[in-house]
Amino acid sequence: MTTEPMMTESTATGREDRTDLTTTYLGLTLPHPIMASSSPLTGNVESLLSLQEAGAAAVVLPSLFEEQVEHEAMAYGTLLESGAAFNAEAYDGYFPDLDDYNTGAEEYLDLLNAAKQELSIPVIASLNGTSKGGWTYYASELENEGADALELNIYHVAADPDETSAQVEDRYLRLVEEVKTEINIPLAVKIGPFFSSPANMARRLASAGADALVLFNRFYQPDINLETLDVLPDLDLSTAAEMRLVLRWVAIMHGRVDADIAATTGVHDGHGAVKLVLAGANVAMLASALLHHGPGHIHTVVSEMERWFTEREYSSLGQARGSVSQVSVADPSTFERANYMRTLTSYDHHG
Ligand SMILES: Cc1cc2nc3c(=O)[nH]c(=O)nc-3n(C[C@H](O)[C@H](O)[C@H](O)COP(=O)(O)O)c2cc1C
Repeated sequence: MTTEPMMTESTATGREDRTDLTTTYLGLTLPHPIMASSSPLTGNVESLLSLQEAGAAAVVLPSLFEEQVEHEAMAYGTLLESGAAFNAEAYDGYFPDLDDYNTGAEEYLDLLNAAKQELSIPVIASLNGTSKGGWTYYASELENEGADALELNIYHVAADPDETSAQVEDRYLRLVEEVKTEINIPLAVKIGPFFSSPANMARRLASAGADALVLFNRFYQPDINLETLDVLPDLDLSTAAEMRLVLRWVAIMHGRVDADIAATTGVHDGHGAVKLVLAGANVAMLASALLHHGPGHIHTVVSEMERWFTEREYSSLGQARGSVSQVSVADPSTFERANYMRTLTSYDHHG
């Protein structure tokens, strides 16, 4: 614990009349809802410390991917089967140094260990995969290494025309159940928006063991280079407008799904975070905005959020959370199709 979180304006200037931004997420009590989500910025101790110094309430480490773990397990299994490990001659010749081959997962555990040693804010580890299998054993390794909670990112592109939507959903649920059996720490499940019935899926994920839902994964869309005809991986950062998809579904799920809600994608400023809390989010996570502006942006976002609530004399965040969710607003259809019709038919007046 080398650095302490930066004081917010409220702690510096007397907080009696300031809104108390305390929130809870995954059983953790946080001073405010602004977290750093998985990104390269949470991938080394130096920038993790910068995020803490800027006031991040908690951090999510980059993911340990199923492919990383499976690759290592496979390599290890093959070596053992071949007997090479027990053959001194082979060992001297081609047998790779165990320290060298076992990189990804071991490095990840080292990062988690270092983060836990250096940071005083909660550290959430992340596993990223799509199928049940031996790799989920790493969930318990992450718990043993001190993770305060685990985020499971199920980043599945349902590209197989033979896989039905029911099978896709089942894949999610079985994976959540399996990971849940590995750990005693709280589990968040990060999903994309592409379900026929996202709110129903959310409910079933909560029943399968998700203590929180992280809405939504931002799927990276490939592009085609017209000169080379190569398929390009697209790594554009998000825009603030992308938050609207999240906002709608947070508002729809609040009060109806037995899980905390974290918002990710398009959270770029304090006002965006305010909207997500009003819709029902427990926390809001930032990646793109931090990569763009740097870790110090956390402080700007928290201050803007605090100012908004304080000026309107909210005593606490609890008073605000979900007050503009679908179950709370006078006209719930605004989050559904009625809004769509109204928006389209009123476009000319504003255009
Ligand atoms: C460069 C980069 C790397 C990321 N790596 C991870 C990752 O390892 N695991 C994960 O769950 N999300 C990862 N994300 C997704 C972010 O955590 C976040 O959910 C997404 O970018 C949407 O939020 P944003 O609009 O604030 O960027 C990554 C995002 C970026 C831009």
